[in-house]
Amino acid sequence: MNADLVREIQDKIDIIELISETTELTRKGNRYWGLCPFLSEKTPSFSVSADRQLFYCFGCHTGGNVFTFVMKRDNIEFGEALEVLAERAGINSARFTAKQARRDKERDRILEINEAAVRFYHQALLSEEEGREARQYLTGRGITPEAMTRFELGYAPNDWRRLMDFLLRKGYAAEHLVASGLVKRSQNGDTYFDMFRSRVIFPIRDQAGRVVGMGGRSLDDSNQPKYLNTPETRVFSKRHNLYGLFHARELVRRLNEAILVEGYMDCVKLQQYGIGNVVASLGTAFTREQARLLKRYCERVVIIFDGDEAGQRETLATIEVLNSEGVTAEAVVLPGGQDPDEYIEACGKEEFLRYIKNYKKNTIEFRLDRCLKEGEELGLSGKLAILREFYPELAGLESQLELDNYLLLMARKLAIPEHTLYRDFAKWRRQPAGIGIIRNINSTIRYNKEISLN
Ligand code: UTP
Ligand code: MN
Repeated sequence: MNADLVREIQDKIDIIELISETTELTRKGNRYWGLCPFLSEKTPSFSVSADRQLFYCFGCHTGGNVFTFVMKRDNIEFGEALEVLAERAGINSARFTAKQARRDKERDRILEINEAAVRFYHQALLSEEEGREARQYLTGRGITPEAMTRFELGYAPNDWRRLMDFLLRKGYAAEHLVASGLVKRSQNGDTYFDMFRSRVIFPIRDQAGRVVGMGGRSLDDSNQPKYLNTPETRVFSKRHNLYGLFHARELVRRLNEAILVEGYMDCVKLQQYGIGNVVASLGTAFTREQARLLKRYCERVVIIFDGDEAGQRETLATIEVLNSEGVTAEAVVLPGGQDPDEYIEACGKEEFLRYIKNYKKNTIEFRLDRCLKEGEELGLSGKLAILREFYPELAGLESQLELDNYLLLMARKLAIPEHTLYRDFAKWRRQPAGIGIIRNINSTIRYNKEISLN
């Protein structure tokens, strides 16, 4: 499908205007209502949303966007509807098609280049002399040869143009090598050099198995930054991908649960230990797009980020993103500020799984524990103020048992007498619904959903 043309049409054509030519629409609030053009009806059940640019008929349950509407109205295929709407918008669709074809070709070329580069780097890692240092590095970090093969880990030699020369010999154009992000052009533009040098390579496959980018780790601290990643290219967007998903997705679907970690190394290591439903974010804040991607495979995510303060902050942000996309999130804080790689290396698979099982916190518990840590220095009124943040959510719990459980937990952790806390909560509950409840109603609903899923 021609995505650019579709977008351009959607930008230029207003669905209200388009549909008004077929049926009369009357505005009510954010929606427009009219008689359904596909039904013979006397009362309007056909509604159009201007901000979402979508229509829906409550009578015949058809709905869609401008394209769906024209397909149905004129009884034509998508391609024809595209033509009809392009003409209406005054767009030369042939120009778009040619441009799109060029782009598709460039995409394909980049994917081929990436694939060839993965093989090149992997061979370099396995090569007797050249790959020794990198192999030793990985072995030293506890990575087995099997994991190196399975994740196609590689080594980018300590040289300026090794990959480039290899790929040029294979017949790829310099222009496409630059477009892949694996080769860079110098500032003044007259020389080229490899992006990754003297680094261990982690190829990043998308969920469909295509190599979209790579991460490269330096072998020692003198070579900064620690990790270098492929820049955003025609095929690589960090915010839309998760490392390891291609390997993990079947098990994630089967278990209806994914484990989310921060680093490439964490992901490979847990996989190596036989924990197969692991994916890693790509060194940026976890995005909505990544949440939606995961949601295609599972309803629950267990977050195991680094045990340090930054990791915990990131955990909280990630919980919020996941929850807002309707994914249940749980979180584990590893002891001693360790990351999953270090922890499993130190104590093995059984202990790792046991720890997760015992110390996994749901959303409320995790947030509560964080607040309680901050509340250590506060007086009674300060502590109660923190607790009131949670009251709306607690009030939304369906189970009295669970509610009691949280109240007890909070009383204990904050060193507030139990009956004081109970009384405060009861008093808050008797108050008329205030701003606080309205503000928190979404999280309450989400949380209820979470409970019923478990
Ligand atoms: P960490 O700093 O936690 O590293 O970064 P790590 O995964 O524990 O790495 P090791 O164990 O020292 O090898 C987590 C992730 O953040 C991204 C990478 O994706 C990394 O896996 N990152 C980190 C970067 O992109 N650049 C950096 O310089 C550092
Ligand atoms: Mn690490």
